[in-house]
Amino acid sequence: MLDSNTVSPVFSAKNPRTELPSINRTDSSAGRSDLSLSDSLDAETPKRDKNTMANVGIRVVISEFGIRSLADAVMTKVLKAARHKSQQTAAPLIPSKPTLTNLRTAAASCKACDLWERATQTVFGEGGEHAKVVFVGEQPGDREDLAGHPFVGPAGRLLDQALAEVGIARKDVYVTNVVKHFNWAPDQRGKRRIHKKPRYWEISACRPWLDAELRAIKPAVLVCLGATAAQALLGKDFSVMRRRGELVQSTLAPHVMATVHPSSILRAIDDQSRHEQMQSFVDDLRKIAPLIHKIRKAA
Ligand code: URA
Repeated sequence: MLDSNTVSPVFSAKNPRTELPSINRTDSSAGRSDLSLSDSLDAETPKRDKNTMANVGIRVVISEFGIRSLADAVMTKVLKAARHKSQQTAAPLIPSKPTLTNLRTAAASCKACDLWERATQTVFGEGGEHAKVVFVGEQPGDREDLAGHPFVGPAGRLLDQALAEVGIARKDVYVTNVVKHFNWAPDQRGKRRIHKKPRYWEISACRPWLDAELRAIKPAVLVCLGATAAQALLGKDFSVMRRRGELVQSTLAPHVMATVHPSSILRAIDDQSRHEQMQSFVDDLRKIAPLIHKIRKAA
């Protein structure tokens, strides 16, 4: 029986000539296990097989230690890279006197995380400098990546439709995303780019851009679209399903709300469900419309 301290004769199944005595490192030869292997070979093995067996034995020992140290080295590298990734952010790229214009220019060459490599371009937020409400989505989609503008694809069209229904004017709105580059992977046939959720270090790397946008605009109302935006801005335990449409306390803006992402409506299983989900989305936005009208009148 082999215990966890024993090197198994891994090559023996393929070649019975290489069957090796096991090396138990709990015995007195611990720390010199390669020597004890050679010693035991000497005792009863014909010379012809000695070289092969000793060689293989040494390879077993080396490969075991080799694999361990390789695994350690790989793990160290992975941890180092993760630490490095999680520490790297766009903060050093934020201009000293940020405006939406110079932020957009600076963000165009952002390489704070790796997403820029596969994306066509940075998709920065858009809307008026004096917008009353900021909508924050997750990341640009395929269309947005190609066009270089946020919310111009199918999800953006649904958002526009909902805004129109509740009477929120486009000029009162600024739309942006938590992550400014499209994160995607090819589909199985390699033909389509499939959206991939951004990872936490990509979100934190990108966060200084969003914070700077919010500081520049100082919106009266902030709406998080979907779980990625809500959890990035309102805390990782925030549940959109439970708290959608609720005005929540936050230092980010006087009025803050989270609702579903319009792309979830596009994924509805049938027309009826899509219609119902759209209605609920509109109902959520209807709660912020009077706030915006009041703020506009007061301005
Ligand atoms: N989805 C988003 O979250 N943002 C966009 O800009 C487009 C789709």
